[in-house]
Amino acid sequence: MGSSAAPERHFDLQPDGAARLALGTMRLLDWRLDPRALAHFLAEAADAGVGVLDTADIYGGGEVEPALGAAFREAPGLRDRLRLVGKCGIRLRVGGVAVKHYDTSRAHVTASVDRTLRCLGTDHLDLLLLHRPDPLLDPDELAGTFADLRDSGRVRSFGLSNFQPAQADLLRARLSLPLVAHQVEASLWHPDPVLDGTLEHASLASLVPMAWSPLGGGRPAPPALAAGLERLGRSLGLTPAQVALAWLARHPAKMMPVLGTGRIERIREGVAAMATALDREVWFELLEAATGHAVP
Ligand SMILES: NC(=O)c1ccc[n+]([C@@H]2O[C@H](COP(=O)([O-])OP(=O)(O)OC[C@H]3O[C@@H](n4cnc5c(N)ncnc54)[C@H](OP(=O)(O)O)[C@@H]3O)[C@@H](O)[C@H]2O)c1
Repeated sequence: MGSSAAPERHFDLQPDGAARLALGTMRLLDWRLDPRALAHFLAEAADAGVGVLDTADIYGGGEVEPALGAAFREAPGLRDRLRLVGKCGIRLRVGGVAVKHYDTSRAHVTASVDRTLRCLGTDHLDLLLLHRPDPLLDPDELAGTFADLRDSGRVRSFGLSNFQPAQADLLRARLSLPLVAHQVEASLWHPDPVLDGTLEHASLASLVPMAWSPLGGGRPAPPALAAGLERLGRSLGLTPAQVALAWLARHPAKMMPVLGTGRIERIREGVAAMATALDREVWFELLEAATGHAVP
């Protein structure tokens, strides 16, 4: 019928009934939870409505995935309550690697995914993201690698992180399977994707936009933004962090923030924030506080 209809998304990242909020594990080692306490925390997060867990092969210098695996072993059934998002493609200076670099070769991607699955004690990732654009990426080699990972059942879907639109489009044109998500830094601390076409590109390409560091990674907001978040939070009955998440939630691209807290009450606040509708004027007031100037 209507040719103006938005393109169909062919992928539901969050399970039915879950919040549009992922839990990120980059800082997991800072939480200092033993496997049982981590399993309890993840179960509470799932109870609170989180259905997506974001991790990466390099987090904690490679120690985060084994920690998650230990938690999953503590609580049978827990892994199946969460969609698991992994990332690969960055090689840190460890184990004989002299220069930090990107590696999207078949050998590295396959070895990384196999290690991730072994560490997590699961037979599949729900989504695998290429962590960073690799200037030496060979799209045809990667197409074969992704097809093998999918056909063997080890990875159910694929996406990108931190790509420019042209870099993403090259891959979209050459891969034999769809890309379904793009994870970028997006927040009031870093509002660029709202202004530079990144989110429009994601919508056009049917990529779920995931927003990393949605609270600026916990760093203090610049003074004007901090004051705006406080004042609007007071008038709306929200915490400043909730106002910042509600600002992301209000965008029509339907971003999924990846929240990096290790505190369950902050996850519950985040889930509630994603269901808060900011009005248009408040949204622009925050944009102005973030950028330091009124819209033209
Ligand atoms: N794709 C990429 O390149 C990329 C890059 C960076 C991150 N990521 C992903 O994004 C996730 C989130 O990143 P992030 O940790 O920088 O994000 P964030 O959610 O913006 O920051 C989390 C930090 O803020 C602190 N914080 C302070 N007040 C908070 C509040 N009210 N609610 C929640 N947190 C609060 C947290 O401390 P407490 O723990 O004490 O609450 C934590 O240290 C990562 O875990 C990772 O999965 C992806």
